[in-house]
Amino acid sequence: MDLNNRRTIRKYTEQAISDELLQQLMEQACRASNTGNMQTYSVVVTRDNAQKEALSPAHFNQPMIRQAPVVLTFCADYNRFTKWCVCRQAEPGYENFQSFIGAAIDVVAFAQTFAVAAEAAGLGICYLGTTTYNADKIIETLRLPRLVVPLVTLTVGYPAEMPEQPDRLPLDAIMHQEYYHEATPEDIDSYYAYKESLPEMKQFIAENNKQTLAQVFTDVRYTKNNNEHFSKVLLDVLTKQGFLS
Ligand SMILES: Cc1cc2nc3c(=O)[nH]c(=O)nc-3n(C[C@H](O)[C@H](O)[C@H](O)COP(=O)(O)O)c2cc1C
Repeated sequence: MDLNNRRTIRKYTEQAISDELLQQLMEQACRASNTGNMQTYSVVVTRDNAQKEALSPAHFNQPMIRQAPVVLTFCADYNRFTKWCVCRQAEPGYENFQSFIGAAIDVVAFAQTFAVAAEAAGLGICYLGTTTYNADKIIETLRLPRLVVPLVTLTVGYPAEMPEQPDRLPLDAIMHQEYYHEATPEDIDSYYAYKESLPEMKQFIAENNKQTLAQVFTDVRYTKNNNEHFSKVLLDVLTKQGFLS
């Protein structure tokens, strides 16, 4: 598989994903690096239509949830590891933010390794960022216990589309040699010139009645109000699940 050709897939054929293939891809994903080899993550597999239906509102009814043959909810999980400690006369100390962040980093490495393995096997995937927006609802639907927090969802299936590849910023915008180079206004012009020149981005600005593409992000897609609201929801979830007690 050539990573230069990858793209997110949001439409899937009806072809099922076999248990054997899913198992094989999960085994590969488990080879991802992880903190102290504690594997402080879990994944909940959803194939059942009623369960997809139940999850759907938490993902703002994005159609991929109902359409994909498999929905995977990847969770930070210190529940299992804590139980192991308790069963083995060890005092667990993981009810804190540092442990949550460590588990969160491991979950993302696990999920992304799964994504690459799945794409290499001919499947298509889409991440759903709505997982952290509505983590409270997902916790209820999937019956996630204390010290388990859902962080990313992947919808997975055989591709029924081959969309245009989205643009990327030039590497200069991303890579810093030896020291961080803070972008000047001229650098910003050059980094974002290609993205801003794309006809679909110009259409995006017009459809949303905005003057600049950045305003579509700040005023429509990722607003301060929403970010602050969902931050509160997530902090509440971290408290209830035991990471901020
Ligand atoms: C954490 C995360 C959350 C995302 N959430 C969504 C989502 O909720 N809905 C969606 O359609 N795509 C979602 N995506 C996919 C991105 O929109 C996509 O990766 C990006 O536009 C670049 O496109 P590409 O993956 O085809 O290169 C998400 C991706 C990531 C990594």
